[in-house]
Amino acid sequence: SQSQPTPSQSVGPEYRPAHKKPTATVSTKLAHDNVHILPQTPQLIALLTMIRDKNTDRADFIFYSNRIIRLLVEEGLNHLPVVERSITTPLNTTYSGVKFEGKICGVSIMRAGESMEQGLRDCCRSVRIGKILIQRDEETSKPKLFYDKLPEDIADRWVLLLDPMLATGGSALMAVDVLRSRGVPEERILFLNLIASPEGATNFAEKYPKLRVITAFVDAGLDDKNYIVPGLGDFGDRFYTM
Ligand code: URA
Repeated sequence: SQSQPTPSQSVGPEYRPAHKKPTATVSTKLAHDNVHILPQTPQLIALLTMIRDKNTDRADFIFYSNRIIRLLVEEGLNHLPVVERSITTPLNTTYSGVKFEGKICGVSIMRAGESMEQGLRDCCRSVRIGKILIQRDEETSKPKLFYDKLPEDIADRWVLLLDPMLATGGSALMAVDVLRSRGVPEERILFLNLIASPEGATNFAEKYPKLRVITAFVDAGLDDKNYIVPGLGDFGDRFYTM
């Protein structure tokens, strides 16, 4: 019949006729120039499908999250400035390329953000990494800074701020305030996360229009406990304990 693939179509991306291709939910688009959503490729959607699945075990959750984190770090690095660099190849031929110019560091928002440190180290050997701990204050129920340890020359660096889930953005906005109080301008901060809510990303875009948010996916919204929906549950619990 018409829907049977011919032998030449049986492998590769065209292995199915258009009307039999799988479909998937892709990221919500946002009209903010400073929110950068990774290209919605079949691989990325498949990786997100793995980590969203409640039946995915911890080892697989870590493995597939790490693949997404790697894509986020590589995309983040694309936003850093480069200068021209000419080199000579073993064929004694000139290649005019570029090299990154500047210093970077990672800053993880504890605890879940620490899960992204290895992905950053995999791309940037011996990168400096700072940490910020923000928790809800029992009395005021507002986010409160409990601890920070940041490179002393952080004002001279580009900062890759790490937190896997951008829900309301309350903790991450406070982390940005800490970075700015240490002299980091907002345009030198790149906030990397796996899943953002439209509310969180919009809060960021409006409060800090020069700070770049780099995310793999913008989900539908938040539930009444501020979990991202459809989301993946509690990222820290799934990465560290379940
Ligand atoms: N943090 C998480 O781990 N998951 C959410 O859905 C929101 C915040």
